[in-house]
Amino acid sequence: MNKLVFKTEKALDEAAAGIIAALLQTKPDAVLGFATGSTPLGIYGELVRLHAEGKISFREATAFNLDEYVGLPRHHPQSFHAYMQKHLYDHIDILPQNRHIPDGSAPDPEAECLRYDELLRQAGRIDLQLLGIGHNGHIGFNEPAPGLIGGTHVAELSEQTRQANARFFPSFEEVPKFAITMGVGSILQARRILLVAKGADKAGIVRRALCGPITTQVPASLLQTHPRLTVLLTEDAAG
Ligand code: GLP
Repeated sequence: MNKLVFKTEKALDEAAAGIIAALLQTKPDAVLGFATGSTPLGIYGELVRLHAEGKISFREATAFNLDEYVGLPRHHPQSFHAYMQKHLYDHIDILPQNRHIPDGSAPDPEAECLRYDELLRQAGRIDLQLLGIGHNGHIGFNEPAPGLIGGTHVAELSEQTRQANARFFPSFEEVPKFAITMGVGSILQARRILLVAKGADKAGIVRRALCGPITTQVPASLLQTHPRLTVLLTEDAAG
């Protein structure tokens, strides 16, 4: 595990975007794994800037998102489809057919999970997976549980996760109860993982995930087993 600690969020965002940019420069057809939430926003801002300055292109790249809420159509403002459009895809040159996000409004969510796993299989391994971490240690929407699922699946969101994400919705009741998420098996298959955490409120779970026992009750702790994990933390998240 390679751990990098930054004085400011901006320094972290620049470093993370720099790692993604370096990958695209050496491997233009890289397969990227993207995350949502507030943590990667600054990183996407940096990628947009680097693209606008002509330093990187996503034209040959492919991207997979970790997850999407079940029941939200893609144009819903709180969907992860809308998030990716607004913060990244509207501003870069990645081809529409190469942007993959689970379809939360698919009539048969289980079939959608199988479709997504097949797309991942066809793409080969993800070269670089960007990850945030939930306060309970979830990655994607893989919540703490006695056992974890390897492939894409429908996950029930914990009360804590719904509370945390309620800030993006008009009311708590409107936060979906289920999501389609890539499984931990697919996440761990990525060639390289960038785990990012910002803010003092993440310090406790970062410590448990990286220094505590490897347990499915802290899904992010499984990242300790990954051969190429880079952790980027702000000073307050590093505790
Ligand atoms: C979300 C996402 C995760 C994200 C996590 C933390 O619900 N499914 O991919 O890493 O919660 O979000 P934030 O970065 O806003 O703290």
